[in-house]
Amino acid sequence: MKVFLRTYGCQMNKLDSSLVVNSFMQAGFELTEQVGETDVVLINTCSVRNHAEERVISLLGHLKHIKKTKPEIIVAVFGCMAQRLKDDLLSHDAVNIVCGPLQIPELVNLVNNAVGRVKKQSDVSGDIRRKPSQGQLQDLDDFEYSYDSAENHLPAQAYVRVMHGCDKFCSYCVVPYVRGPEVSRAPEKIIAQIKKLADAGVKQITLLGQTVNSYRYNSFSFAELLCEVSKNNGIEWIKFVTCYPKDFDERIFKAMADLPKVCRYLHIPAQSGSGKILKAMNRQYTCAEYLDLLQKARQIVPDIAIAGDFIVGFPGETEEDFQKSVELVQKAQYKNCFIFKYSPRPGTRADEKKADDVPMEVKKQRNMKLLAVQEEISRNFNKSFIGRAVKVLVEGVSKKAHLDKADKEEHPQLIGRTSIDYIVVFNGPQSLAGRFADVRITRTSALTLFGELAAS
Ligand code: 5AD
Ligand code: SF4
Repeated sequence: MKVFLRTYGCQMNKLDSSLVVNSFMQAGFELTEQVGETDVVLINTCSVRNHAEERVISLLGHLKHIKKTKPEIIVAVFGCMAQRLKDDLLSHDAVNIVCGPLQIPELVNLVNNAVGRVKKQSDVSGDIRRKPSQGQLQDLDDFEYSYDSAENHLPAQAYVRVMHGCDKFCSYCVVPYVRGPEVSRAPEKIIAQIKKLADAGVKQITLLGQTVNSYRYNSFSFAELLCEVSKNNGIEWIKFVTCYPKDFDERIFKAMADLPKVCRYLHIPAQSGSGKILKAMNRQYTCAEYLDLLQKARQIVPDIAIAGDFIVGFPGETEEDFQKSVELVQKAQYKNCFIFKYSPRPGTRADEKKADDVPMEVKKQRNMKLLAVQEEISRNFNKSFIGRAVKVLVEGVSKKAHLDKADKEEHPQLIGRTSIDYIVVFNGPQSLAGRFADVRITRTSALTLFGELAAS
């Protein structure tokens, strides 16, 4: 039987999708990229903003139409939106299976059951804020460990989860209600898994957690974990996302400075530059504390690259509050920044207590303004790369055409990333995918560096 997979959302979802595909392959299914020829449709969903959910609803509408002529297709919705909307999704005409993010090890069985007999099935957490049982955590660990990176969209790279869930309860955020409580995985399991991946040829590991720097297993800290992962001979680059500003321990910066494999890149969302808004967001730090943290990071790790996230149009955000976000972007000197328009999420504290009172038009304008401020900073930063050679891990052939002179046959346009997460586009042999290469930068834009393969 054939399966078709569509993934929405963050890196955590990409990892879950890789694990799910792996489990379907191990169970004898075949992957297809054509929805028209599939027996099973798997949709990994995101609930972080309404727009992500709308895209899933529209895909389901399309599938409902397809199912009029092919009613035997099994449609399984899994991940965050499945956990949030449960029975509402199950009652959708196109949907057969609803499976929460903590139940993904069961997805193959659910699909097999649906093919045989029971057409509608769901497996989601009843009380998502209840700590998962030891058995459930063990199943999730085993599921992750059985991933052998055979089905990996980026060669020589793998994500490894270090923790599940989140306990921070930022007032706008749905994550604690769909991914459950924060639970760190045992370091020996993480290390064993990384060894297995490295033995299979993986060179870059990205450690994943909603607040990865809060990782702690008994007394074992995130800095110690970085140190242990560094000892693996096969792994050359170690990245980690996403960080929470409050739980920073200086030892993490020291590990970044001392351990050459730990990439000097931090994604550390500020969300707002206004003290009033940060408080309403329940972020637990002030703007001054956030800037101090960046300063400390830069002191200990001088060439560190820092990226941020901001939300514009949070309830009660005035023009003055927004200006403080602009000032913070200017002061922080980010490498790049992700900017989002506030989207009220049902069940969150912000949605329950506050009206979504900033008009969409204003959110859009603030989004564009903040992006323009950051783009100017990024553009200036990026110019300093011109003439320099950078080392990249090559991802493969670039989907978009950026360069005019691609020699399509022998040297297609490739895309790679540097250790500090710059995207680099250059022409080269496809055989470089999954390998390191040196690229001399000749041109830059706000988001991308362009260059030529340096003689190696
Ligand atoms: N509305 C808009 N953006 C959000 N984010 C999280 N929740 C919301 C929301 N309700 C953003 C935050 C977070 C990123 C992953 O998504 O900036 O860091
Ligand atoms: Fe959401 Fe805040 Fe947890 Fe990040 S730290 S996942 S923004 S609740």
